[in-house]
Amino acid sequence: MKSIKNLKGIKGKKVLVRADFNVPLKGNRVLDTTRITAALPTIAYLRKAGAKVILISHIGRDPKESLKPVYSLLKKHFPLQFVSDITGEKAQKAIAEMKNGEVILLENLRSDEREKENNKSFAKELASLADIYVNEAFPVSHREDTSIVGVPKLLPSYAGIQFEREVQALSKILQPKHPFLFIQGGAKAETKIPLLKRYLKEADQVFIGGELANDFFQAKGIAIGKSVVDEHIPPLKAFLKNPKLILPQSIVVSRGGKKQTISVDDVRESESIFDIGLPSIHALAVLIKKAKLIVWNGPMGWYEGGYVKGTEEVIKLLANAKGETIIGGGDTAVLIEKKKLADKFTFVSTAGGAALEFMAKGTLPGIKALK
Ligand code: 3PG
Repeated sequence: MKSIKNLKGIKGKKVLVRADFNVPLKGNRVLDTTRITAALPTIAYLRKAGAKVILISHIGRDPKESLKPVYSLLKKHFPLQFVSDITGEKAQKAIAEMKNGEVILLENLRSDEREKENNKSFAKELASLADIYVNEAFPVSHREDTSIVGVPKLLPSYAGIQFEREVQALSKILQPKHPFLFIQGGAKAETKIPLLKRYLKEADQVFIGGELANDFFQAKGIAIGKSVVDEHIPPLKAFLKNPKLILPQSIVVSRGGKKQTISVDDVRESESIFDIGLPSIHALAVLIKKAKLIVWNGPMGWYEGGYVKGTEEVIKLLANAKGETIIGGGDTAVLIEKKKLADKFTFVSTAGGAALEFMAKGTLPGIKALK
C-alpha cells in the first residue's frame, strides 16, 4: 500500500479523495464529528502540496441523503465549495475551474445507484475527474463499492493518513503481545463468529458481554427469562468448550422497578438481562491489569436503556490500563468520544464493520484494491 506521503510533485494535480463522511445526523446537525476530524490531516497535506482536492463520500443508505450538513462543518476548517452533482457537467465544470490548493465536495455517492454495484462505467466517470486517487475511507473499505474497489484500478492510488493509521494500529492485533485479552460485547452474534473463531485461538482470554452473552447463556442451557437474544443465533456450543471463553457470572436485571445485580443462574422467567454485574467487572479488571494488549468492541449492556454501568466501568478500566488498548469502532468508539477519553487509548478506530472484518480477516477489499 502506497501512502500519500510518498506523493511527490502533486502541485496542480487533481486528487480524488474517497472519504467516509457517513456521520450520524439529527435533521441537519452532525451528531458525531470524529470521521470528519479524522480526514482533515489528509486534506491539509494535499492542500499544502498545491493539489486540487476533490472530496467524495457516501452518507447513510438512503440515496436521497445529502452531504450538505458535512459541507457546513468542513467549511469551518478550510474554504470549500459544494457541488450537488457527482460526475455530471456541473461537477466537471467546477473541477475544471479549480485553482491549486482548492477543495470541492461532491454529492452523496450513493445518490447514484451504480456506487453500490462496483460498476465499470461509474468507476471510469469518477476516475476521469482526477489524476490521482486517495482512499481516506477505511470505515467503508469492507464494501466492494465502485469508489472503493473500482476507481483504484484506473488511477495511481494511495492510502490517506487516517487510513494508514487504522491499518497500522489494527494490524497490532494480528501479531499480538501476550497476555492478550479480547473483550467482545454488543449484539448480532452472526457478525461476531469469525472474530470469535480467530481470537479464541489468538488471544489468551475472550470475555463476552452485551446481548452476545445472552446468546451464549442460552446455548449453555441457562434460563435467561425474557432476555433479548439474536434472531438468528449461529451454533455457539462448540465455543463453550474453549477454556479461554469467559462469560459474566454476575448480571443486572430490573427487579421490583430497580436495577439489581444477581447471579446469572437466578434470572426469573419474567426478567431480562440488561448489563454485566459489578463482581464480573472486578473479575475482568484482574485480566485487564495483567494484559499487554486489550482489544474491545461492543457495549457490555443495554446502554440506550440506561444500563450504562458495565460499559462505563470497562471504559474507565481500559483508559487506565498499562497494556495497549485498541477499540474496534462503532458504538464503543462513540461512547468513548462522548466521554472525551479517546486520547487515553492506544487507538480508537473510526470504523465499525470494517474494523471487525479487518480484525477477523487481516485485510479488506479496499486495502487489496490499493496494492
Ligand atoms: C459505516 O458507517 O460503517 C460505513 O460508512 C459503511 O456504511 P454502510 O454500512 O452503510 O456500508
